[in-house]
Amino acid sequence: MKTVHTLDELRAEIRRWKGAGETIALAPTMGNLHDGHLSLLREARRLAKRTVVSIFVNPIQFGKGEDYEKYPSTLAEDQEKLAAEGLDLLFAPDLRQLYPAGMETDTRVTVPEISNILCGQFRPGHFSGVATVVSKLFINTMPDYALFGEKDYQQLLVIKRMVKDLCFPIEIIGMPIMRETDGLAMSSRNAYLDPVQRGKASLIYQLLKESAAKLAQSPDAILEIEVAALTRLSAAGFRPEYFTARRAADLAPHSPGDKQLILLTAAWLGGARLLDNLRVELQ
Ligand code: PAF
Repeated sequence: MKTVHTLDELRAEIRRWKGAGETIALAPTMGNLHDGHLSLLREARRLAKRTVVSIFVNPIQFGKGEDYEKYPSTLAEDQEKLAAEGLDLLFAPDLRQLYPAGMETDTRVTVPEISNILCGQFRPGHFSGVATVVSKLFINTMPDYALFGEKDYQQLLVIKRMVKDLCFPIEIIGMPIMRETDGLAMSSRNAYLDPVQRGKASLIYQLLKESAAKLAQSPDAILEIEVAALTRLSAAGFRPEYFTARRAADLAPHSPGDKQLILLTAAWLGGARLLDNLRVELQ
């Protein structure tokens, strides 16, 4: 496995591979890798001849007062894990590589509508930050495939929409959520939980499963199901932002006749903002 830190080095590798007619799969990450990230890499290796992982904590997708400064950075451990999985190339740029003109008045990519709902309501500008950095990674890596985790389901849809609108010739692959043994979705931010909070955190998945079962039985009771889950989260000491059922294809509010739904939630527990979701198929 090779690690490069500059766009010039990245482009040189990509040119060699493209020259040899080799396919490329990219998994963009912010590092502090867990099994969820490694599952992206495993699928990437299955799909393409060459694999690239990027590690970059992207400041413009963090709001003021969010965890940009404390986001865990574990490059040496990440490198070991990636090498053991047979990665070809790790791209770990610094800020100047990706933001050569700074971050105050630089060009941004914005995907309308879907970026403004759910997480976008609570984190204004977040998805524009994601779309901007992912565009830069796409343009310089020119992958055939790019892989993202379904835990960030809204992010996945934002990226799919961006790829369609900007005509990027890239297939976007969503990979299933990886869970701890008690059901908690794997996330680098789980490290912010203290032992008591960590013990409680699996309530999120438990409520998603219970709500999915109720929804499948009584689709008309959507509002009651959402309110009951929000109440249980608050009573257990979470600060929920939303717990809602939406149409899986575009996150529009569900209307009668929609069969493919998704329950999504974001909730704070102590200093950790936890995200999770679960698909529901109505008969
Ligand atoms: O999901 C993430 O880790 C980030 O949002 C991404 C896609 C790497 C962009 O910074």
